[in-house]
Amino acid sequence: MNKINIALLGLGNVGRGVWEILQTNKEEIRERSGYDIEVSKILVRDINKRRDIDVPKGILTTEPEEIFNDESIKIVIEVIGGVDPAKDYMIKAMQSKKHVVTANKLAIATCGSELIKTAKEEEVRFCYEASVAGGIPIIHGLNESLTANKIEQIMGIINGTTNYILTKMYLDNMSFGEALKEAQEKGYAEADPTSDVDGYDAVYKLSILTYLAFGKKISVDSIYREGIRNIEAIDIEYAKEFGYVIKLLAIVKDVNNVLELRVHPTMVPARHPLASVNDSFNAIFIKGNAVGDLMMYGRGAGDLPTGSAVVGDIISILRNDTDPIFKLEGSKSGNLKQINSMENTKSGYYIRITVKDEPGVLGKISTILGQNNVSLLSVIQKGKGQEFVTLVFVTHKTLEGNIDKSIKDINLLSSVKKIENIIRVEKMEV
Ligand code: NAP
Ligand code: HSE
Repeated sequence: MNKINIALLGLGNVGRGVWEILQTNKEEIRERSGYDIEVSKILVRDINKRRDIDVPKGILTTEPEEIFNDESIKIVIEVIGGVDPAKDYMIKAMQSKKHVVTANKLAIATCGSELIKTAKEEEVRFCYEASVAGGIPIIHGLNESLTANKIEQIMGIINGTTNYILTKMYLDNMSFGEALKEAQEKGYAEADPTSDVDGYDAVYKLSILTYLAFGKKISVDSIYREGIRNIEAIDIEYAKEFGYVIKLLAIVKDVNNVLELRVHPTMVPARHPLASVNDSFNAIFIKGNAVGDLMMYGRGAGDLPTGSAVVGDIISILRNDTDPIFKLEGSKSGNLKQINSMENTKSGYYIRITVKDEPGVLGKISTILGQNNVSLLSVIQKGKGQEFVTLVFVTHKTLEGNIDKSIKDINLLSSVKKIENIIRVEKMEV
């Protein structure tokens, strides 16, 4: 049996998962790859840190050059995270003629072109299945199995941490803070949870999916982004009352050859398949012009699910049977030139307003909405006989620009104390 040495850069959540899979599934991996895979070096920050896995201390190093200069190492697995120094390490590994596998969505979303260019120049393979939706094989799916399609839209729950938090808030009435703490303890959250909670992580992943599905490189800064910090228990209660579930969705649509991209909390009808995607699970709902509706569901975070995708890439390199990077060349971009501005996107809207409890206020707000071509689906008023009450409106699908204009005018009404929250509603027919 052939033997191959590989190295890990990082031994955190994902690194541990990769190590464990390589030990536990050794026989199967040997059979499927044709190789005995040995992890001969692991780069960490602190060799003496207590780790809850049994890794021989002798293979830990804090010197990346030991890995780049070791000619026996053929594949480098980058699971450090972040751009600096991870990107430079990947480039150095490639320049040392080593194939690279990574789970690092940030590095790919922001420096993917440079990494791909280097991989091509150095004639090494660069695989990143784990970078989007953890264990779900979405990169291979878009790169291979779905290439017969013109993709019309992708709607994904692609951040496990926020899905975990929203699920705990919805099903267990947990506070945001309690649910975040649990997500961190379970290893779902990024080192800095801002990236998850404020929607950046989902934006990075959406830009990768957009590249794969539509052949367009989209700068992460140009993707509209809203996180879940503003979602309050009361919004979750109203969502339940209206028959919706709140999810952080990453959406990309081809609307008459104009790309529409956004990440934001969304009210999803309770009967839609995405509504029942709970905990840290991810799901990606795709519409292709040949395949129709398709949903991929699985664990989007965590050591073993993410490790599963990383080790799958290692085996794929050893079998030489797929080449995720090169198939993207010149793919499918067609005349998709523009990105839609948010005011031109269409959704339903949930609008929660605190108003003075006085006659005519509901009528005045409804009139403003009507004057701006916003038609109402439902209205609820809660509270009576108090100085302030809550009015909640759910609108039919309309242009976001119409909502913006309405909100400006509603804010001018003397009976309106505060527009508390606005959440987009996706009708999502299946
Ligand atoms: P993590 O738990 O924070 O682990 C990071 C590891 O990298 C640690 O072992 C750390 O060493 C090492 N490290 C950090 N900076 C280093 C440096 N400058 N030099 C050498 N070693 C360094 O991170 P993670 O959750 O495993 O995530 C790793 C990557 O996978 C990220 O790109 C993340 O976005 C991606 N990812 C994570 C998940 C998930 O569920 N966690 C899922 C999909 C993708 P020490 O151990 O010595 O501190
Ligand atoms: N922090 C990420 C998440 C890990 O919660 O989905 C997977 O990329």
